[in-house]
Amino acid sequence: MLEEIKKLIKEAEQFSAKNIEEIEKFRINFLGKKGEITKLFSEFKNVPVEQKKDFGQTINKLKNTVIEKITSLKNSLEDTQQQQNSLDLSMSGDTTELGTRHPISIVRNEIVDIFSRIGFVVSEGPEIEDDWHVFSGLNFPEEHPARDMQDTFFIEKDPDILLRTHTSSVQVHVMETQKPPIRSLFPGRVFRNEAISARAHCIFHQVEGLYIDENVSFTDLKQTLLYFAREMFGKETKIRLRPSYFPFTEPSAEMDVTCKICGGKGCNVCKHTGWLEVLGCGMVDPNVLESNNIDSKKYTGFAFGMGVERLAMLKYQVNDLRLYFENDVRFLRQFKAAY
Ligand code: PHE
Repeated sequence: MLEEIKKLIKEAEQFSAKNIEEIEKFRINFLGKKGEITKLFSEFKNVPVEQKKDFGQTINKLKNTVIEKITSLKNSLEDTQQQQNSLDLSMSGDTTELGTRHPISIVRNEIVDIFSRIGFVVSEGPEIEDDWHVFSGLNFPEEHPARDMQDTFFIEKDPDILLRTHTSSVQVHVMETQKPPIRSLFPGRVFRNEAISARAHCIFHQVEGLYIDENVSFTDLKQTLLYFAREMFGKETKIRLRPSYFPFTEPSAEMDVTCKICGGKGCNVCKHTGWLEVLGCGMVDPNVLESNNIDSKKYTGFAFGMGVERLAMLKYQVNDLRLYFENDVRFLRQFKAAY
């Protein structure tokens, strides 16, 4: 008899249930009116006196085991139900945040895209250069102030190794390795020894263009730049060319575009002139062609160079240059790229 009760205890201890109905069945089976425990109690009177104590204790142990089992099963069932209720499987997942292109890259890509539509191909050159590619090969006189320590970051002296101060250096590399016709675009970083302020930085970006072929004229240059200005700043944009000087172009000019902000009427951005300066340009100086082994009697060419930060400032009306270099995501997040 006692053995049988112990078996029931084991059975109760090992019992597990998947749902509340199974627990209820288990309860009725043991604790119900016709259940095992009631049956055992009703047999209590037939138990010999000396066994009554043992018998009673074991039945009680069975009863407690069953009750404890029911409570613990009910608790764990409630826990899993709660978990299931708090799990909303229809909820959309976490979104991955997409980065944005840097505003300087956006503007650089836009410039490259505009010129590639009329046949310009991109070439790149080194940022660390020698004197020949940055100055001498571009017809800079020996005493030109741009060679001065104030402008140029020198890495070594005699022979001079330096950081390029303009992307015109890539012109020289291209003329060394390619024969005309040449129609190339050189985007890249340049370095000048300037104090950092809202208007100047020691690192900035330029895009340079070079076109060399037979019969290239100033009219071709002007038409190319007009096309660029209209694509970049809008169909209504007008351009004007002011005479200027660069050692590597003759004649040289600076190009202004009509101010996009005020439409040419005059505002703070264009300093009430109605015009904005955007690039330098000119016909490639015959000396440059000759020193790079291109026959200047047969070939002519034009070149132009623009500052990417300057165009970004005009495009986005962000007039503190430093913001483009600080990598503050609150600033960068505002730019959306089409390129
Ligand atoms: N290299 C010149 C500058 O840095 C720009 C330029 C390029 C001018 C090509 C004329 C022709 O200011």
